[in-house]
Amino acid sequence: MAKKLKILAICGSPHRGNTYEILEFLKQRNPEIDFRIFMLSEFKLMDCVGCYTCVNTGEENCPLEDDRDLIINAMKEADGTIFASPTYARAISALMKKFVERTSYIAHRPVFFGKHALALATCAGFGADLACNYLKEHFTQYGFNFVSCTELKVATKSDFETGHNREKALRECSKLIRTIRSCETFKPSFDQLVYFNIFKSISVLNKMKGWADYRFYKDKKDFYYDVKIPFLKNKIAQWIAGKEVKKIMTNR
Ligand SMILES: Cc1cc2nc3c(=O)[nH]c(=O)nc-3n(C[C@H](O)[C@H](O)[C@H](O)COP(=O)(O)O)c2cc1C
Repeated sequence: MAKKLKILAICGSPHRGNTYEILEFLKQRNPEIDFRIFMLSEFKLMDCVGCYTCVNTGEENCPLEDDRDLIINAMKEADGTIFASPTYARAISALMKKFVERTSYIAHRPVFFGKHALALATCAGFGADLACNYLKEHFTQYGFNFVSCTELKVATKSDFETGHNREKALRECSKLIRTIRSCETFKPSFDQLVYFNIFKSISVLNKMKGWADYRFYKDKKDFYYDVKIPFLKNKIAQWIAGKEVKKIMTNR
């Protein structure tokens, strides 16, 4: 029997409300998928204390003991992840932001290349685009390839609105499933190349303090994984990264 595709939906809503309802609908409509919904509110997630230990010496040295690694391991096991949040005050929820902060060392040492994702935000009127774009921008740094950003307005809760939202979410979720099934190989974008070179250079400059990054980058050549990068594209990315590193190091 063929292995079931695994999709993990991470819901940043503090309750089983509008955002959860749409994820539950997607789960019901995709019985062939091993579809799990993680309500962040039902996990133990502590506030980041800002000690920088995860970035400098490694995430295994984080002083907090909570469910961070349990969620990250589920993301690694899944073929695709849906990052879903309600829009609160024109941004992602505080709970989703807490998850972002607890895992943000992964932006330094990305491990989710080859994994596909969807950003989804519900709102009552305005701001879902900001929440959605934030999710996409942030988790792209972890290596995820975002298939789409799905903004859903839940204002009247009329049958028409609910039907429209469900149809839209289902369409975008199908796109995610199709992309996973197509086994599309992921080509690094120019921005990712620049970021790679910035982080690699800084890991050398900061190696006395930040040895976790140094260890991670020291044997990596042109990118996070083996991929052929056109010569000129690589050189330009390295040149831009060099200028950015200079700006960072000289505070200009
Ligand atoms: C504290 C708070 C702030 C909100 N801020 C916004 C907002 O800035 N823009 C908006 O369109 N809706 C806003 N809403 C409405 C929610 O985004 C909307 O109802 C959403 O679908 C709620 O999802 P949930 O049931 O999963 O919490 C806000 C709701 C709350 C509770």
